[in-house]
Amino acid sequence: MLLISLCLPGFLLAQQSTGLSPLDSQVSRFLEEARNTWSDMNVPYQDGKILYSLVLKGRFQNILEIGTSTGHSTIWLAWAASKTGGRVTTIEIDQERYEKALANFKKAGLASFIEARLGDAHQLVPRLRGSYDFIFCDADKDWYLQYFLDLEAKISPGGCFTAHNVLWRYDPHIKKFLDYIKGNPGFRTHIEKGSGEGISVSCRVEK
Ligand SMILES: C[S@@+](CC[C@H](N)C(=O)[O-])C[C@H]1O[C@@H](n2cnc3c(N)ncnc32)[C@H](O)[C@@H]1O
Repeated sequence: MLLISLCLPGFLLAQQSTGLSPLDSQVSRFLEEARNTWSDMNVPYQDGKILYSLVLKGRFQNILEIGTSTGHSTIWLAWAASKTGGRVTTIEIDQERYEKALANFKKAGLASFIEARLGDAHQLVPRLRGSYDFIFCDADKDWYLQYFLDLEAKISPGGCFTAHNVLWRYDPHIKKFLDYIKGNPGFRTHIEKGSGEGISVSCRVEK
């Protein structure tokens, strides 16, 4: 046993002792190694964990993200989707960040769970077909309310619209979005405060 252990690479040993699947090992290794390297307005590690837990808890499958950047939050969402039988569609307007994100999805082993679109979400979002049960909005703050209005009818019962940076109370666009969504009787909203930036979670009330 000692001889076998000496011949195995470190991550396989970790896998043996933790019972992680090969995909889990690859993703968690990627996220740990990249943890302090994100520099493109990416969500903090803690916020990624919150998104991951929300998707797993709700067993969400049809996931949409607005604002991919280089893919940190997408990777957490897609990791959860790999366990719920789901997929993530994500939209980014900046070509360089979009290309870096594609490379990160491959490195993390999650490319097959992600459909990445390059384009302006102002135009792409209203044209999306089908319905979503988890939406993460992390692009231009002045459009948060409009993204919600464009997607409201496509959120399935029990599905949730989440938005990042909602603790930016000085931002009038965030305030307008929060006031609207908190007053919407079709949705129940709370703020995940484990996130220093604040993630609002607004879930469609099931009738
Ligand atoms: C805060 S960053 C997203 C960080 C990302 N969620 C992460 O954790 O890695 C916001 C991103 O939204 C993109 N963005 C801004 N306006 C956009 C638009 N109209 N359509 C698509 N993407 C947009 C920006 O280019 C930027 O990369």
